[in-house]
Amino acid sequence: MSFEGRDILSTEDMNKEDILEIMAVTARMEDLFRTQHVSDLLADKMVAVIFLEPSTRTRLSFETAIKRLGAKSITVADAKTSSAAKGETLADTARTIEGYVDCIVVRQPMLGGAKVMADAVSIPVINGGDGPGQHPTQALLDLYTIQNEKGGLEGHKVAMVGDLKYGRTVHSLSYALAPFAPEEYIFCAPDALQMPDQIVANMKEKGITCRKTDKIEEALQADVLYMTRIQKERFDDPAEYERLKGSYILTRDILEKGNREITIMHPLPRVDEISTDVDALPNAAYFRQAHNGVFLRMALLAMVMGRA
Ligand code: NCD
Repeated sequence: MSFEGRDILSTEDMNKEDILEIMAVTARMEDLFRTQHVSDLLADKMVAVIFLEPSTRTRLSFETAIKRLGAKSITVADAKTSSAAKGETLADTARTIEGYVDCIVVRQPMLGGAKVMADAVSIPVINGGDGPGQHPTQALLDLYTIQNEKGGLEGHKVAMVGDLKYGRTVHSLSYALAPFAPEEYIFCAPDALQMPDQIVANMKEKGITCRKTDKIEEALQADVLYMTRIQKERFDDPAEYERLKGSYILTRDILEKGNREITIMHPLPRVDEISTDVDALPNAAYFRQAHNGVFLRMALLAMVMGRA
């Protein structure tokens, strides 16, 4: 099925064929980026980049991707400066912007908010993070990274560590990797921040072995270690955050106890969950991962606007 006109809201509704197509276009975009720097593939297109929550990588890599493909962007990078602050609904915002541009990229705090916008308009909407819900473009760039670092997507033992309750990246990643027969998912979190039951049940239904633990030593036996930040902004009770922050801190010393071939990933930003002495290890992939975000987002933009 063509991606032209399609919304990218979640990885839950993506099948293996979709994902492999996205990986293939991403590789082509990486080549294009390295040889041509700025192409004119989307020279006649304009994209609205609406970020009503903090962001560095997602917004700037989308902006980079837009400009590398020759398109133009209009941007809201601060919720306080948009009419959301006056109480405008997401649907009304979307219907307005639909008249200005060819595609909307949005990050906002409400679970399901990107879908509300997508349902209100006929141009493609790309979800750049809907509160504690999903972050599909992150998961897809994570897959591209795993493919590059490990030589393929099939059959990995993947540990996700940290805030699995509120962390939208791990929700999207669980679904995105599921078609590639993972050997096991190790969900490592304090009890209060474990992976939502509904996602675990869904993975088990797909035949994936899932293990819940609160011990990082178990996670270190995986071949991909996906660290995450405790999502401070999602806690109702600041005392609860204080209790749980710093639950897991990855250091070189701790890594010595685990699989030496482990690929270390993180969507970033990190707070303190990966010590900076880990950065120089050849298997510390998180900055390469962040760079891959540009190629992946170039691919998605080109695909949904029918130019891939
Ligand atoms: C993540 C996010 O926004 O969900 N960041 C990102 O997009 N790379 C992870 C996080 O904020 O912890």
